Amino acid sequence: MTAGSSYAQPGWWKRSIRGKWGCLADWARVTMAGMDPVNVDAMLARFSEHWSPKKIAQINDYDVRNVKLQGDFTWHKHDDTEELFLVLSGELTIQMRDRNVVLGPRDLFVVPRGVEHCPRAATETAVLLLEPSSVINTGDAGGEFTAEVETLS
Ligand code: NI
Repeated sequence: MTAGSSYAQPGWWKRSIRGKWGCLADWARVTMAGMDPVNVDAMLARFSEHWSPKKIAQINDYDVRNVKLQGDFTWHKHDDTEELFLVLSGELTIQMRDRNVVLGPRDLFVVPRGVEHCPRAATETAVLLLEPSSVINTGDAGGEFTAEVETLS
C-alpha cells in the first residue's frame, strides 16, 4: 500500500466491498423492498359482499382498503381520525348532518374527524379507503354493519 493508493483514503474498505459485492447488495435491496404491486381491479374481483372492507395494502400504520357499497350504511363518526374515500366506480353520497357530498369515479373526499356521516350508494359502488389500521367501519355506532377487516394478499 502506498500513500497515493485508494487504500490510504478513509472508507477504502467500504469501497472495496461495494465493488466486489455491489450486485449482491442490489439484489438484497430489491428483494427486501417489500410488497409486490397490487392491482386494485383484481382485488375488487375477489369479493362481492357489501360494507365489508378488505385491506389490500398498508402504509405506515394506515390501511388501504377496498369496499363495495350498496344501499344505506349507518350514521357514525370517528373521534380519533379523518377517513379518506376515493370512488373507483359507481356513485357515492356521503351524507353529513349539515350537507351531502356526491362522489363519482375518481372523486375523493376526506370526512373530518368527529363528523357524523352515513354513506349511501343507490347502485353498487366500489371505493378505496385510506384510514388508520385501527379504524372500525361503523366508528362509534357499532351494530350489524360492523365488519372485521379481511386482508387480501
Ligand atoms: Ni366512517
